[in-house]
Amino acid sequence: MTNGTANRDASSPVKLLLIFGTRPEATKLIPLYMELKRRGNIHPVIAVTGQHREQLDQALGNFGIKPDFDLNIMKRRQSLSYVVSAALQGLETVLDEARPDMALVHGDTATTFAGALAAFFKRIKSGHVEAGLRSFDKYQPFPEEINRKLATAIADMHFAPTRLSKRNLLREGVPEKDIYVTGNTAIDLLKYTIKKDYRFSENKLNNLDYNKRIVVMEAHRSENLGAPMESICRAVSRLLDGNPDIELVWPVHLNPEVRKTAFAVLGGHPRALLTEPVSVDDMNNLMNRSYMILTDSGGLQEEAPSMDKPVVVLRNVTERPEGVESGALVIAGMEEGNVYRVANSLLHDAALYGKMTRAKNPYGDGNASARIADAILYEFGMGPRPEDFA
Ligand code: UD1
Repeated sequence: MTNGTANRDASSPVKLLLIFGTRPEATKLIPLYMELKRRGNIHPVIAVTGQHREQLDQALGNFGIKPDFDLNIMKRRQSLSYVVSAALQGLETVLDEARPDMALVHGDTATTFAGALAAFFKRIKSGHVEAGLRSFDKYQPFPEEINRKLATAIADMHFAPTRLSKRNLLREGVPEKDIYVTGNTAIDLLKYTIKKDYRFSENKLNNLDYNKRIVVMEAHRSENLGAPMESICRAVSRLLDGNPDIELVWPVHLNPEVRKTAFAVLGGHPRALLTEPVSVDDMNNLMNRSYMILTDSGGLQEEAPSMDKPVVVLRNVTERPEGVESGALVIAGMEEGNVYRVANSLLHDAALYGKMTRAKNPYGDGNASARIADAILYEFGMGPRPEDFA
């Protein structure tokens, strides 16, 4: 039997252990953590694996959040096996100590899989936030497609951001009663971060020439490292050369493989600002003031449509087809000629640009965290089942 409804004291708050380790998991779980804390009948605690160190600390520090447990596992050039096994072992002890009613994991990282598995080994229920995204390609994104399928196999509650992600879960045999369509918590965060008269904490961003069109870039996916990243960077370099009225800003991920290519190809360009990773506040506000976004990141694909910014997706496949269908995203792949052509057309074709900026955000309405909190209370017999995000 699992922990949870059956053998807990019904008068005490539901104890939830939020497990995460990387920057994107942090930024998408923070709004949920804040919502859970507001509820008197839920007691959330945080365990971080520290799969990322600086980028995770920056995200937590942004909101003044201190984790209750920190495994601090990150090593330079860490392998997937190392991250999974170190997280799994460390979480065993954390779960023994915290004794939560349920563990919550997010998304598709090595920490996600290890977190769900560690809870299962302790017969503790788990909930998977951002469940049901599928590219249907085992190696793109690698290893995330398999991480999220494994999390689905383990989890008891599935928080699907969209109806399409719910359908993917149903097709894999997940019982409908265990799936809640909530929207994506990434959109919830924007109400905390985006401000009209925002001053950037990274001063270089205050000093940008906003009369130019700002193109924001972020790319780090493992399957893009090496030759594809080089070809993307060459396309962006051509784009800068051909369009004197644009300025590129790229807060470069700390993965040394990403940095090597980014700085080698674009480092010397007078209109390319390559910075250290910036805070979530800075990033959201930078996107909000940009002309368009070039990225292989999943989170940015979800956030940008809320700011009416077109996204050029630097991947061959996406597990976020809703945005392509709504017209907010366009898939450009990684090949130099294609990336250049797609991005350049957005700089020159006003009709195309206008159409993409007007697309509706299919990923959420800013209330995903509230729906997830309600669903958890429902699971523990403490409230009604929430309505799905439509
Ligand atoms: C991981 C996730 C990926 C997610 C990405 C977001 C997996 C399998 N992949 O990939 O899904 O999109 O995070 O960023 O979990 N590093 C630092 N400091 C940091 C962060 C990273 O030095 O704050 C360096 C380390 O040397 C590390 C390397 O980056 O070895 C790669 O980090 P890792 O978590 O292994 O992979 P990511 O590419 O970040």
